[in-house]
Amino acid sequence: MRKKVVAGNWKCNTNLQEGVELAKAVNEAVAKDGAKDVVVVLGTPFTHITSVVDAVDTNRIGVASQNCAAEAKGAYTGEVSAAMVKSTGAEYVILGHSERREYYGETSEILNKKVALTLENGLTPIYCCGEALDIREAGTQNDFVKTQLEETVFNLSAEDFSKIIIAYEPIWAIGTGVTASSEQAQEMLAFIRGLIADKFGAAVAEETSILYGGSCNPKNANELFANPDIDGGLIGGASLKAEDFLAIINAY
Ligand code: G3H
Repeated sequence: MRKKVVAGNWKCNTNLQEGVELAKAVNEAVAKDGAKDVVVVLGTPFTHITSVVDAVDTNRIGVASQNCAAEAKGAYTGEVSAAMVKSTGAEYVILGHSERREYYGETSEILNKKVALTLENGLTPIYCCGEALDIREAGTQNDFVKTQLEETVFNLSAEDFSKIIIAYEPIWAIGTGVTASSEQAQEMLAFIRGLIADKFGAAVAEETSILYGGSCNPKNANELFANPDIDGGLIGGASLKAEDFLAIINAY
């Protein structure tokens, strides 16, 4: 049975104190409610990771960085390596987010290095893919997402691929309040699962957690998560309010 995952991506929001308070609120509610069948992840800024790891029960809540360096170590001012992330107690790294691709020029070549370093350091990549609005309007979203995967994580061995989580995030739905319809999300996630089956076999496809991201909120989470191929969400704006994030976790 593949894992259900609800991962928050705080992006460049919250100062350290606010982040720790948010993490504590999520931790307290998860401890009380159980949310036993859902893997809960908090994707915090680098500066917050250690404090958030200390503030939560890491048996119940995983912590993610939102990026890592494409190099293992060395003279790369300002970069944070996968090994550094690992040393904080974080377990996940969000990679390939459309904001990283668009604003920081992250190409498939760069992402391949980051995925490899993340895996080498025993971290789980949450690997994002998804198309822009013009691609959706042209009806070529399946080809686009297929290419994104073929250029990156489909180069992994089946053993390594089985360690990653995929997040489909249509760019037109990120932070816009426009969610992909439940049908659109299910259709794409089923398509991705089919690609994984073709590439790595049915057993790997069946075990891979594939998340939906893009304006997921307490009102639509239930309908989205009811789909057979949607294994959870990568949550941006709604992960910044404990109440909303918890409501999404409890949508399962
Ligand atoms: O990583 C999260 C996604 O970009 C979704 O963001 O929930 O604010 O639309 P959003």
